[in-house]
Amino acid sequence: MPRARTAILISGRGSNMAALLAAAADPAYPAEIALVLANRADAAGLARAAAAGIPTAVVESRHFPGDRPGFEAAMETALARHGIRLIALAGFMRVLTAGFVGRWEGRLVNIHPSLLPAFPGLETHERALAAGVRLHGCTVHLVSAGVDEGPILAQAAVPVLPGDTPATLAARVLAEEHRLYPAALGWLAAGRVHVAAGRALVDGAAAPDGALRNPQP
Ligand code: GRF
Repeated sequence: MPRARTAILISGRGSNMAALLAAAADPAYPAEIALVLANRADAAGLARAAAAGIPTAVVESRHFPGDRPGFEAAMETALARHGIRLIALAGFMRVLTAGFVGRWEGRLVNIHPSLLPAFPGLETHERALAAGVRLHGCTVHLVSAGVDEGPILAQAAVPVLPGDTPATLAARVLAEEHRLYPAALGWLAAGRVHVAAGRALVDGAAAPDGALRNPQP
């Protein structure tokens, strides 16, 4: 089966992008990263992608004030030029229109730093600490029209520890993001994800045994 030509969309440092690039460096990985596209020319991840020999493109969202369809049309021109079939959002800080999301339905995936549906939106680690949850984590999901909504492909949970700050908690979650996202994108690219009644199932994926408890009884 040919590898699925995939674009990673970024706005910033691109550590999840780097994790996906590292996974896709294996020719057996089902997705080929054929483009890294940023909505800001100063996204630090662009240099990392270029250093890895990946084609990059910039479509500056600030050049499309109040014109999301125009911004997305420019992105889709770049995506088409590179023959892109799948899109992985990795710290991409623009909300996409329902039209764009509909055109890419089932082929557009995002990573979010919380256990959705808890804490959609920004400042998830601050809000998890304020809420006093004992487990926090990250979610990879297919993108539907609502912000941080759509069928969940995979989640990873981490404990919230006494003395955690947003920074320490973010670092613990981020390490799991870097493991979870390559796995989930690989399942999607391999055609192992099926959505029924708004829920995603992954063919042949193993479930863990036991529970994660915090504190430990
Ligand atoms: C990650 O925490 C991701 O979950 C969120 O934005 C952050 C991007 O970080 N959507 P990076 O650019 O991948 O390092």
